[in-house]
Amino acid sequence: EGNSKESRGALVVLEGLDRSGKSSQCSRLVSLLERRGISAELWRFPDRTTSVGQMISSYLTNTSELDDHTIHLLFSANRWEKRSLMETKLKTGTTLIVDRYSYSGVAFSSAKGLDMEWCKAPEIGLLAPDLVAYLDISPEKAAERGGYGGERYEKLEFQKKVADCYEVLRDVTWKAVDACQPIEDVEKQLQEIVLDCVTECQKGRPLFSLWS
Ligand code: TYD
Ligand code: MG
Repeated sequence: EGNSKESRGALVVLEGLDRSGKSSQCSRLVSLLERRGISAELWRFPDRTTSVGQMISSYLTNTSELDDHTIHLLFSANRWEKRSLMETKLKTGTTLIVDRYSYSGVAFSSAKGLDMEWCKAPEIGLLAPDLVAYLDISPEKAAERGGYGGERYEKLEFQKKVADCYEVLRDVTWKAVDACQPIEDVEKQLQEIVLDCVTECQKGRPLFSLWS
């Protein structure tokens, strides 16, 4: 255990259904932080650049088939392979804005019928986010947005199940933002909660582990 009062970067996670606007909002947040002189990076899971990430990518594009448990563990492994770098970045003062994390892992796999507790198990010990911002949109509204990209999970019926699983996973610490608002309004609300979180972490909020 290091000095828990040490200033550090914040681990901010954006979650939500496909087409909820996470990726655009993540970029906007990183730009905001950079403008304010706060060191920040945009991360995303899956990280398709690693060899595990390439297996995940070919599964998502339907180029390969994998057992549901197997792909679940690959998504988790993809976070584990970034864990130590994540910790280093945070401890050296860089804020990470992360597009999807363990909650996507659990929500998408349990939406297929896997046991939720089983799904959480491989995530135990990963770094816990300081903030989970949930971009809240109905599966129907999300599906209307310029269509899905055609990847494996981008289907209305499945997204409805994912939404139900997110509902079970959500706890009082999550900040939900209505993702149906104009993009600038969503951005403004996110800015406020993210800047608050960054300030807390600069003051030395301790770093926790999942799953708590
Ligand atoms: P997504 O963020 O939608 O990537 P892109 O912006 O390239 O479309 O992520 C790909 C899909 O993977 C998405 O449907 C959610 C799913 N997913 C999981 O099933 N488990 C996970 O652990 C993660 C991170 C994502
Ligand atoms: Mg997608």
